[in-house]
Amino acid sequence: MKNELLLQALKGETVDRPPVWMMRQAGRYLPDFMKLREKYDFFTRCQTPELATEITLMPIDQIGVDAAIIFSDILVVLQAMNIAVEMREGVGPFLPQPIIDQAALDQVILPDVNERLGYVFEAVKMTKSELNERVPLIGFAGAPWTLLCYAVQGQGSKNFDRAKAFCFQEPAMAKELLQKITTTTIAYLREKIKAGADVIQIFDSWGGLLSPTDYQEFSWPYIQQIIDALSGTVPLIVFGKGCWFALQEMSKSGASALGIDWTCTARNARYLSGGQITLQGNFDPSRLLSPIPEIKTQVKQMIHAFGKDRYIVNLGHGILPNIPVDHAKAFVDAVKEYQS
Ligand code: CP3
Repeated sequence: MKNELLLQALKGETVDRPPVWMMRQAGRYLPDFMKLREKYDFFTRCQTPELATEITLMPIDQIGVDAAIIFSDILVVLQAMNIAVEMREGVGPFLPQPIIDQAALDQVILPDVNERLGYVFEAVKMTKSELNERVPLIGFAGAPWTLLCYAVQGQGSKNFDRAKAFCFQEPAMAKELLQKITTTTIAYLREKIKAGADVIQIFDSWGGLLSPTDYQEFSWPYIQQIIDALSGTVPLIVFGKGCWFALQEMSKSGASALGIDWTCTARNARYLSGGQITLQGNFDPSRLLSPIPEIKTQVKQMIHAFGKDRYIVNLGHGILPNIPVDHAKAFVDAVKEYQS
């Protein structure tokens, strides 16, 4: 691998500067992506390995990040399980038949992932070949809880109230669904790794909607199962948005790194995670709207606060669609200019 910074940081090795990539870097804000977006609908982009590869490479060539993340979506796993997912303009994900009772749950299958998600593995193989060992490739999956949020709520939501109500009123059904998602996710990630993913990230985007106690019941055990099942394969990053309360437990889980959002200070994150594990984050995505000199100053302060070792520079959540390309580039350049 020509650029091993991410892999070094995940191993806890000393580096000259930390690696940098951005969550959701492979879509959303790049003009070339917007052009493809006009031509092909969302799932066509995901299901066509040539398009997924082209989109994955854009931020490598245009922004200069230290890692690629495969263009896909966390929701493709639900589709493979027989749960229909549409992407509606102006709405986002829309699931016409949410899983709200036992009858719906009985229709949810444990798929043959090669049959249903082979296009993702093809995209990973094609991207690996196009990358030609320039930077590592990150594969990903949603945490079972975050996928349950969409499967039950049926669409995005500020608080996922119907998904939470389902868990609290029908915990046995919720756990059956969480287990089916977990089993499928493990099979899916094993194949993604076989196809060439160098690192895996688990996105628990809605973990922070649960209380610390409910997180232990409905989210964490399923993430731990995934970590255990993949142990000994590739490094795994767990990003739980709003999950600072679980950092201590996460730090003992076997994960190689933990994602931090911008509501937690570097100092608290280091303290809560025990000071040894690699951390990733946590620039407020909206802060990329600041003037470029301000972005650069704040990035340097952030590296100083986390320390250059055992650290991966990233945003605290996905990049926003309205970020100017030169601002995203300034974020990455500031890291490359860093000198301790
Ligand atoms: O870096 C990347 O962009 C790689 C690809 C990627 C997408 N989704 C593409 C996408 C990744 C890593 C995701 C993860 C994802 N998807 C998450 C976890 C991360 C997070 O942001 O919290 C979640 C919760 C989803 C579910 C999802 N998919 C939503 C809520 C939406 C609509 C709103 C949005 O984010 O744009 C999507 C659609 C989606 N996934 C788009 C892209 C580029 C936009 C739709 C389009 O391009 O037509």
